[in-house]
Amino acid sequence: MEKFIVKGGAELEGKVTVSGSKNASLPILAATLLTSEQCVIRRVPDVSDTNYMLQILQNLGADVERASGTVTIRCANLHRHDAPYDLVRKMRASVCVMGPLLARLNRANVSLPGGCVIGDRPIDLHLKGLEGLGADVQVDGGDVRLEARYGLTGDTIDMQGKSGATVLGTDNVMMAAVLAKGTTVITGAACEPEVVDLADFLNAMGAKITGAGTPRIEIEGVSELGGVEHSVIPDRIEAGTFLVAGAMAARESITVRRINHDHLARITETLTACGCPIEKDGDNLIIGKAENPVGANIITRPYPGFPTDMQAQMCALFATTAGTSVVQDTIFPQRFMHLSEMKRMGANVEVDDGTAVIKGVDQLSGAPVMASDLRASAALVLAALTAKGETEISRVYHIDRGYEHIDDKLADLGADIRRLPA
Ligand code: EPU
Repeated sequence: MEKFIVKGGAELEGKVTVSGSKNASLPILAATLLTSEQCVIRRVPDVSDTNYMLQILQNLGADVERASGTVTIRCANLHRHDAPYDLVRKMRASVCVMGPLLARLNRANVSLPGGCVIGDRPIDLHLKGLEGLGADVQVDGGDVRLEARYGLTGDTIDMQGKSGATVLGTDNVMMAAVLAKGTTVITGAACEPEVVDLADFLNAMGAKITGAGTPRIEIEGVSELGGVEHSVIPDRIEAGTFLVAGAMAARESITVRRINHDHLARITETLTACGCPIEKDGDNLIIGKAENPVGANIITRPYPGFPTDMQAQMCALFATTAGTSVVQDTIFPQRFMHLSEMKRMGANVEVDDGTAVIKGVDQLSGAPVMASDLRASAALVLAALTAKGETEISRVYHIDRGYEHIDDKLADLGADIRRLPA
C-alpha cells in the first residue's frame, strides 16, 4: 500500500493534459467482446480499473496488448463466459460484461457486486433490462446466471430508477441489443457523454443505434459486428478535478488541456458562480485563482445536471470558501465519507440525510487522513493543497483506480506531493 504526503501552500502554475475517460473506457473495453475481429482503442487511461477490465477480458479468452494508452484487443476465441467474484469485487463496472457476453455467447455468469462505500448499488435495472430482451436470469450463491438459449429479441426497455437513469445499465442493455433480433427502444436512458462514446464505438463496429445522449435510444439489431479503431473522450471528471485544483491553489492560473466544453458546462458554470475566473482557449480551459471565492449550493443530478462524481471535489473547495454551501447528493446520498476526514483537517461540516452543510473556514490544517473511495481521495488531495502543514493521505490505491498519475501531474504543476510506501 502507498500513501501521499502533501505539503500545503505550494502554488500551481502551468499546463496539465486530461487523460481519456475511465468511465467511457470501461464499457468500450467490454464491448470488444461483441466481435471476433481486432479492436484498437486509444487514450485508455493507465488506471487500475482499466487494468481490472483487461484482466476480466483476458480471463474470458481475449488477446490483449497495451502500449502507452493504446489497447489492442481481439476476442476471437472466448473460452469462458464468467466474471468471477475475485475480479468483480475489485471493480463494480465488471458487471458491464453481462450485456456483451449474453449477445455474443447467449450466456453470462457474473458475480453480484456488493454494496460499496458510496452506498447500496443494486443492479436490478440491468437485470430487468436484459430479461426484457429475453434472457433468463437466475441469482444464486452470489452469482447472476443469464441465458438466452435462442438469442435475444428487441423490446422496449425502461432504464429509469428512483434516482434517475442508470448509466452502466443503459450501456449493458445497449450492448446486448446491438446483436438482438429486431428493434430495441430504451426509454429513460442515461444521457451521459460516456454512453454516447459507447454508442459511437458500437456504431463504428456496424451497430445501428440512434438517439444516444437523449432519454430515448433506438437500436436496430444486426447479425454481426466488426473490428474498429476508436479514441476515448477526455475524462470530464479528471478535468473538473484539475479545475478545482486551479481555483484553490493557482499562483495566477493553470491551463487544463483537451477539454470537451459541453461535457464540462455544469461544472464551469458552478465554478464561475463561485467567483473563479475561467476562460476558454480552443480546447483548453484556463482557470485563475479565485480572489474572494464564495460558496454555492449544488444538487447532483444525472447528466446534464451536476455530476455526483464531482461532489466531493466541490466540498474540498467549499471547505475554505466564504459563506455556507449546501451540497445534496441525490444519486448516492451516502457518498460523504470525505467529509469525516476533512473534519479532521478542521472543516466545519454537518451531514444529514444526503445533504452536507459546509461553513467555509479560513484555512484547513494538515492531518493524517484516509482515502475511502476514488472521488473522496481526490477531494482529500485537493483539500491538502492549501492546508497548513503536511497531510498524509493513506490508501491511495483508491485514487489510482481512476486518476492517471495524479501525483505526477500535480507535481508538474508545482504541488509538493510525494508518493511513499505506507
Ligand atoms: N441504480 C438502481 N438500480 C440499478 C442501477 C442503479 O437503483 O440497477 C441506482 C443507483 O443506486 C444510483 C443511480 O441508480 O442511485 C445511478 O447509478 P448508476 O447505475 O448510473 O451508476 P453506475 O452506472 O454503476 C456510473 C459511474 C459512476 C457514477 C455513476 C453516476 C462508471 C464505471 N461508473 O456508475 O462513477 O458515479 O454512473 O453517474 O461509469 C466514479 O467514477 O467515481 C463513479 C462512481
